[in-house]
Amino acid sequence: MTTIHKTALACLAGALLLGTPAMSAAQTAEPKPALPKDDGEKRILEAIAEARKGQRYANVSDADGRLMRQLVEAVNAKRVVELGTSTGESGLYFSLALRKTGGKLYTYDIDPGRVEVAKANFKRAGVEDLIVVTLGDAHETAPKNTEPIDVLFIDAEKPGYDAYLRELLPLVRPGGLILAHNMHTPAPNPRYVEAVTTNPDLDTSFLLMDGAGLGVTLKKR
Ligand SMILES: C[S@@+](CC[C@H](N)C(=O)[O-])C[C@H]1O[C@@H](n2cnc3c(N)ncnc32)[C@H](O)[C@@H]1O
Repeated sequence: MTTIHKTALACLAGALLLGTPAMSAAQTAEPKPALPKDDGEKRILEAIAEARKGQRYANVSDADGRLMRQLVEAVNAKRVVELGTSTGESGLYFSLALRKTGGKLYTYDIDPGRVEVAKANFKRAGVEDLIVVTLGDAHETAPKNTEPIDVLFIDAEKPGYDAYLRELLPLVRPGGLILAHNMHTPAPNPRYVEAVTTNPDLDTSFLLMDGAGLGVTLKKR
């Protein structure tokens, strides 16, 4: 018997012992639902689950939201700016991190109805003190605040992504992140993709591309 045949037989025997199909055991790792560490986190996760039962408007998926929380907490963000509040689902994920970093979310939306729902969701989660919501066209309202930004999240109208980047990149601190939703579905704004992939001051990856897709861009130090 050749070495290749012996190795294949050993793999098959191992898989049978584990009671799993021959190819799947070593190939995939599936995430489990987020587990609350404390009562505050439990309340936020329950508010997210409740919000998902209502009307949804291309809000972030659970996988997107959890990655965003991980990034915000990892960079110890004090100031997160979000373009496109909608009903507040992404804001709730950010709040999981911000209650630990001592930071705040500044979030902008043009739709008064969605903003009202978002505020109610933030209250239900007990995180309304961590979030400042501004109603209006974010191209006009967001650049008015000129404090340095640790994490910028772009999730408003798709044709505006490149303009948002131009308007707010100067405020993102060196070492800060720009996150951009829908880099896969719906089709991303090509001017934005060009801007974040051809600038030597930036380094960009596209993650979770089996779903909506999240652009993660580091503004280099
Ligand atoms: C995809 S939703 C945001 C979803 C949200 N980030 C979430 O995951 O829960 C896009 C939002 O952008 C808002 N929007 C569109 N154009 C805008 C503009 N010029 N200024 C501010 N918000 C805008 C819409 O009203 C909509 O609520």
